[in-house]
Parts: sequence; structure tokens; C-alpha cells
Amino acid sequence: SRRQLLGLFGAGAAGAAVGAAAGAGVAVAATGADAGTGAAAAAYPFHGAHQAGIVTPAQDRLHFATFDVSTTLDRDGLVGLLQDWTDAAARLAQGLEVSEDGAVGGSDYAPPADTGEALGLPASGLTITFGFGPTLFEAGGIDRFGIAARRPAELTALPRFQGDALQPERGGGDLCIQACADDPQVAVHAIRNLSRIAFGRASLRWSQLGFGRTSSTSTSQQTPRNLFGFKDGTANVKAEETKDVAEHVWVAASDEPAWLAGGSYLVARRIRMIIENWDRVQLGEQEMLVGRSKGSGAPLSGGTEFTEPDFEAEGPTGTPLIDPASHVRLAHPTGNGGARMLRRGYNFVDGNDELGRLDAGLFFLSFQRSPEQFITVQRSLAADGLNEYLKHVGSAIFAVPGGIRPGEHVGQALFA
Ligand code: HEM
Repeated sequence: SRRQLLGLFGAGAAGAAVGAAAGAGVAVAATGADAGTGAAAAAYPFHGAHQAGIVTPAQDRLHFATFDVSTTLDRDGLVGLLQDWTDAAARLAQGLEVSEDGAVGGSDYAPPADTGEALGLPASGLTITFGFGPTLFEAGGIDRFGIAARRPAELTALPRFQGDALQPERGGGDLCIQACADDPQVAVHAIRNLSRIAFGRASLRWSQLGFGRTSSTSTSQQTPRNLFGFKDGTANVKAEETKDVAEHVWVAASDEPAWLAGGSYLVARRIRMIIENWDRVQLGEQEMLVGRSKGSGAPLSGGTEFTEPDFEAEGPTGTPLIDPASHVRLAHPTGNGGARMLRRGYNFVDGNDELGRLDAGLFFLSFQRSPEQFITVQRSLAADGLNEYLKHVGSAIFAVPGGIRPGEHVGQALFA
């Protein structure tokens, strides 16, 4: 019952082709599912030194979900779930159906091989990235899985930030799965089937669809725009800047805990944008709030998109060209102890509220070597003029284990 792969690649060939170029900058077109067949059919290797979906050039679509593990599950049960998820994810990333024989990972949890709605679709650049939340390690003082002592010291619920308007139903989770693809049907199919596999063992807590990646994570990509209309991702940590990635994104072998080496910390924030108010703000004011030109993305101190901002530069009247309360000034590594992160967020529009305003915004996702990087920048952004048009309504943090070798399951070192 193997599904035929469409497009230019067989699964193995695609993996090899992308793997040869270190998984960066290859094959998946920035424009998404409408791109030529070859690009849309690209498959990224699931196995590697790091999990896919972090430095992978950001795909066009997201389905992100968090899960709570059933209170009846024990350590072996949790390991079994991670094994089944890993096996299924490795197949899905190749554009295959979840299972050949209908019994995922040999368990009895999943009668049919696949739900079927992605049959005939190519891999579409699908990546599946798993994360472990603080509550997986210990919840309510209970060490359910015998891993409380192995919780990374930094993996705790994020502190409360000024202006937070968090909704409990959009926060937290024992586990998370980030599915990114260039076809929304493929991303949703992945989350749906992984939820199905987890039936009776873990249940969906909250989930978020996203479109139109808001960050480049590769110099091979053009900078996309967020729903404020500004280029987003210009100064991001990029996959090709391997020194920056090593310094700011991956947990090093010398960091604690050792089982997380090659991994990262993922912060998710559902940030509502009050776009109706934003749309009444004049262009000059919008640019002042961001600190960059809306058209070109260049810093207001001059130059082109990739010119470094000059925060000292002053206009004829002696006022700084980049406002000290602008987003770019406050988020810049200068003033944040050099803190950087890899941003990988998506736009969302989830219908409208009772006032007839779009429930729209940025589903902010960032990967960093330590949660402290996000915390430092987010604290600095308390003075951000943009806040008048933003509301943080969802929040979660996860430790993302390092890459998975064939035959292993995600987070295997944690249970060793
Ligand atoms: C830069 C928009 C939230 C961190 C930028 C840029 C824009 C932007 C337009 C300039 C282009 C670029 O370099 O990417 C937004 C919007 C947000 C938001 C609309 C909310 C809806 C956040 C949050 C954080 C963050 C929550 C982290 C706590 C950064 C960083 C930069 C940046 C680190 C690069 C600064 C630099 O080095 O120049 N953002 N952002 N942003 N943003 Fe945000």
C-alpha cells in the first residue's frame, strides 16, 4: 500500500539531494505549493544531526499543536508513543502514508494505515519537529515518567511579561508538534494522523494554523511580509550563517543537560494584531514604530534592506533617525547583551471577533539555545511602541531534542 510519489524525486533521491546540501537552501520554493512540480515535491530528510523544521528554509504553511499526556500513561507508554510518532513522522516526511500495515509501530492504537486526505500529494517539503514542555517532566509535583531530575533547569513556564493577556486555552502543553509544509493539506494531515496515533495516550490541547511564513530562515529566500505589511525576517539568524546558528540556536554538547545537545528551545506566542487600528496609522508613523521603511525594509538610518541599522545617526534637527522606542531598536542585539534568536513565525487569520475585527496576527515561533534569549528581548520590548497594536494571547515553551538517527525515537537520550 505504498503511495506513489509524484514529481521529480523518489523519496530516497530527494533525501539524498537535500542532504547533500546540508538541508539548507535547496529545493523548496519560497512561493509555496504553486511553485513548479519539482519544488513542491521536495522532501527534507527526517533524520540528521538536528531535527528538521528549524534551519530548514521556512515553508509556506504551518500546523502547530500541543498535547497533554494521559494521566494513565506510564514511562514505557510514553516511550512507545514517541517511538510511534517518530516512525510515522519519518514516513510522512517522505510523502508516504503513515503506515504500511495499519498497525503503527506494532501497537493496536491505529486501525487504518492512514486517514487518506493526503493520498497522491507529494511530501511538499513537510517537516515535523517535536518538543517537550516543562509539564512533561513534572506536573503538580508528580514525576510521572521518572524524568523530573532530567528537566533542563531553564525549561520552566515563561515569566509574566508586561501586557500579557494570555488565554489558558491557548497555552502550555506536555508535548508539541510543529508541522510545516508548502501545502496546508499536507501539514494538517500530519497533525491529524499524529493525533490519531496518540489516541488514548495523549490528547490535543490547542493548535494553530499559519500561512505566509513571516521569517526567512535562509538567504535563499526573499524576505516575506507580516500582516502589518512590513518585511519580517531581514535580520534573522539564517541557516547559512553556521557560526551564528551554533552560537544562538543549538544547545551545545558543553551545555546542560547533555541529553539536549543538538537541540534547541522553542517559544511559541500567539500575538493578536489589532490591524483595524494599525490601518488607520499613517505610513510615516508606522515606519517610526518599526524603525524600518515599509517598502524596502531598509533601516530608517539609510541604505538598503540588509544595511545594518545605525542607531547613532541623527536627522537635521538632532533627533535619532531610528526612534529609541522602535521595535528594531529594542529587539536588536545591541542593548540585549547580544541576544539573538531564529524566528520562524507565521501569519494567522482565525475568523473575526464579536466587534467585526479580524482575529488576525502573528504566530511567533523562535528557536534559541537558551530561553533567556527570548526573555531578554521580550522584556526589552515592554517599551515597544508597537504594543499599542498587539496583544499576546497564547504562550508556550518547549525543549526540542536534537536530531534523530534511523532506528531511534525522538528524545531517546532523555530516557537512556
Ligand atoms: C525584527 C515585526 C514580535 C524579535 C522585526 C522586524 C519587523 C518585526 C517588521 C524588522 C525586520 C526583521 O529584521 O525581521 C514584528 C511584529 C511582531 C514582532 C509585527 C508582533 C506581532 C517580536 C517578538 C520578538 C521579536 C515577540 C521577540 C521577543 C525581533 C528581533 C528582530 C525583529 C530579534 C531583529 C532585530 C534586529 O536585529 O534588527 N520584527 N515583530 N519580534 N523582531 Fe519582531
